[in-house]
Amino acid sequence: MLLQTPLSFFFLASGMVMGSTALNVNETLFSPVNELRHLVHRVGSVGLRLPGSQVHNELVNWISHSLHKIQGVEVQESRYDLITWEPKVGKNLSESGSLCIELKGKCHNIPIVGAIPYTLPTNGSSLTGPLIYIPPNQSISSVDVRGKIILREYAPLPVPNAYLFKDAYYISPDLAAQLNGTYERPYLSTPAVDLIDPVKVELMAS
Ligand SMILES: *[C@@H]1O[C@H](CO)[C@@H](O)[C@H](O)[C@H]1NC(C)=O
Ligand SMILES: *[C@@H]1O[C@H](CO)[C@@H](O)[C@H](O)[C@H]1NC(C)=O
Ligand SMILES: *[C@@H]1O[C@H](CO)[C@@H](O)[C@H](O)[C@H]1NC(C)=O
Ligand SMILES: *[C@@H]1O[C@H](CO)[C@@H](O)[C@H](O)[C@H]1NC(C)=O
Ligand SMILES: *[C@@H]1O[C@H](CO)[C@@H](O)[C@H](O)[C@H]1NC(C)=O
Repeated sequence: MLLQTPLSFFFLASGMVMGSTALNVNETLFSPVNELRHLVHRVGSVGLRLPGSQVHNELVNWISHSLHKIQGVEVQESRYDLITWEPKVGKNLSESGSLCIELKGKCHNIPIVGAIPYTLPTNGSSLTGPLIYIPPNQSISSVDVRGKIILREYAPLPVPNAYLFKDAYYISPDLAAQLNGTYERPYLSTPAVDLIDPVKVELMAS
């Protein structure tokens, strides 16, 4: 499925604000706590928003619209085509797919925790095969994976919190204790290249 996304939008917008180091913020004109909460809620409450999906584009349009209203802010947008998939419209991942392990002829459902956006989906019919685990440091091409369902992990990638805040104008005292910590999420790391190469993924599925 070919989707369109203004992916670079956020970077351009934030780059311009970050770049103006001489800018002083007048705190009496700064958004009050309630408004900031509302903004964060608006972004955090839309659910799954894969790049290019309808939900994602609606949110980007809203941010774009909001930025255009700010005097002195120049907004630029670049559009990219990308090939990806999204769950059935209005459905979450759990409703769009399923995974079960057969034990003694009985199917045990496994909760779906996530999906890799740029991999190929199945054609709608279910696939079955032996489940094998390939560790992150091993290439899929070194294993005979034909007809098998493969379990792979994203290796965790800890990012220092201090790095995330390095461009902040101001850090409130309650965040100071967090600065020595790390922001660690598995999806921050790059998945093994053999997970995102469509040719190899297709081989896996055949
Ligand atoms: C901040 O904004 C208020 C309200 O417009 C104004 O009265 C005040 O002079 C401004 N302060 C500075 C330092 O510019
Ligand atoms: C997915 O949607 C269904 C139906 O709305 C809901 O019952 C379920 O809790 C949702 N699952 C997740 C993981 O959000
Ligand atoms: C879907 O994929 C399966 C497994 O690769 C294949 O056997 C089946 O014929 C395909 N069905 C359609 C409608 O393409
Ligand atoms: C992968 O890592 C495991 C655990 O650290 C190690 O035992 C194994 O030899 C490594 N395999 C390869 C192919 O590097
Ligand atoms: C952060 O680490 C530095 C150096 O290890 C230490 O001096 C400082 O007390 C730590 N700060 C907090 C808030 O834990």
